[in-house]
Amino acid sequence: METEQENTKKRYLVRKLDEARERTRLILKPVSAEDLEAQHETIMSPLIWDYGHIGNYEELWLLKEAAGRSLSDRELYDMYDASLYPREERPSLDLLDREGADRYLDGVRETVREAITEADFDGEDHLLRGGFVYHMILQHEAQHNETMLQTLQLMEGSYTPPVRVESPAGGWTGPEMVHVPGGPFVMGTDDEQEALDNERPAHEIDLPGFYIDTTPVTNRSYVEFVEDGGYERRGLWSEEGWRWKQTEDISAPKHWYQPELHSWWTQRFGFDEALRPEAPVVHVSHYEADAYARWAGKRLPTEAEWEKAASWDSGTQTRRLFPWGAEPPTQERTNLDQLAFGTSEVGAYPAGESSCGCLDMVGNVWEWTASDFAAYPGFRAFPYDEYSKVFFGDEYKVLRGGSWVTRPAAIRNTFRNWDYPIRRQLFVGFRCAL
Ligand code: AVJ
Ligand code: FE
Repeated sequence: METEQENTKKRYLVRKLDEARERTRLILKPVSAEDLEAQHETIMSPLIWDYGHIGNYEELWLLKEAAGRSLSDRELYDMYDASLYPREERPSLDLLDREGADRYLDGVRETVREAITEADFDGEDHLLRGGFVYHMILQHEAQHNETMLQTLQLMEGSYTPPVRVESPAGGWTGPEMVHVPGGPFVMGTDDEQEALDNERPAHEIDLPGFYIDTTPVTNRSYVEFVEDGGYERRGLWSEEGWRWKQTEDISAPKHWYQPELHSWWTQRFGFDEALRPEAPVVHVSHYEADAYARWAGKRLPTEAEWEKAASWDSGTQTRRLFPWGAEPPTQERTNLDQLAFGTSEVGAYPAGESSCGCLDMVGNVWEWTASDFAAYPGFRAFPYDEYSKVFFGDEYKVLRGGSWVTRPAAIRNTFRNWDYPIRRQLFVGFRCAL
């Protein structure tokens, strides 16, 4: 049934899809053809693969699966299938070049504009109901924006950001930790329009009371750990963590260097800058976060603790979509959407405070948690196993909260991200608990 409401939603989604594409192209605009096609690190795809894959994923889900339409042949689908070729093999594929991919993505989008007018958002098909698959595609493009910016941060040479908005000054001088009282809270969600499969279903969890850091760990605090011999003290590290650190032979977060004693600098997108003491530490592995926490006499929060601190309003015994409430993210509440093009000082967004008093829960840096990536009780893979299901297990650790790179459509209190504990290319820091 075609309702006026449904048409309004469809117009909104088409606008959002176009805006997502504009952003992807803005990010890639300053990048040379050579840098688009090169593989800058074996753990990352060539940027041109991400770009073509964004279009093919849209064709797969919005045209083939949701509308029974197909434009491309099997070879193209295979080339851009993330589970078919590992990242290190992607440069040897016969990928579309920039112009070819531009045309391909435009062609898919033209057909999507037709397909959406015929889509039934009210019917029995869960893929289309409430526009789910369209929201999934929007989030997918945003996730690959993040992957692309990780690659650009890893790349040799510099990248000049397309936008940059000044973030407010921060620095936190209040209590180091807040207390979250024990008791049940509701973790996850039953939302079927925007949430992805691993966030469902909502389920009650009874947690003992705990303390959690008000803000993410700052560079200032992390330097103290480094200068206190943090990377040399075996007792601070887990067994795998120590093994990893010894093999990698590292003594500071990725991209840090020290031109002279006690003076720490970092390289961001190829530009040198003095480490900002009040900004959160970023580009650390789970192992480094874990060692720091032990040094500080603390531990990493579990995923459930993190979510309770971000979302639970103990006064009303209800969940919040974002730490501050249900209102959408804005520049007054959080550092998201690549606008600042870097981290902001912790505590710079008091309007983004969660009910228990935590700051910077959504935005600024992703945060490592102590938890393995696991299915919630009652989990059902949807719409495909390779989004979440195949990654459940003890190989991956959960990250929460999004970073300054994350687009607003792709983050909320229940959103779960995951990666190997050795990874440092993510825009990730952490906060501790007790
Ligand atoms: C959820 C960020 C781990 O990038 O591997 C992108 C998201 N899934 N395309 C990833 C994803 C399919 C995924 N992460
Ligand atoms: Fe993908």
